[in-house]
Amino acid sequence: MSETFKVRVNQLPVIEVPADGSQSLLEALEAAGIETRYHCRTGFCGACRSKLHEGEVEYVNDPLAYIRPGEVLPCICIAKSDLILDH
Ligand code: FES
Repeated sequence: MSETFKVRVNQLPVIEVPADGSQSLLEALEAAGIETRYHCRTGFCGACRSKLHEGEVEYVNDPLAYIRPGEVLPCICIAKSDLILDH
């Protein structure tokens, strides 16, 4: 059994995402059937901007879109812990 992190998005029931970094957070949300907002999927447009309430993510590419403290771009980051976010 591969390891997973527990993720709660928009106060929906908790989903599990792979902990091995094999999917971006955006892909993991999509795979779990969460309705997502996105456009470029490369960290440029900011359409996927989400508020991270709890937990840690790691960027696999540098975010180019403007993000405020506490915001993340799920299209270019991976989960590094259990997360609570608003997307
Ligand atoms: S979809 Fe464009 S920054 Fe994430």
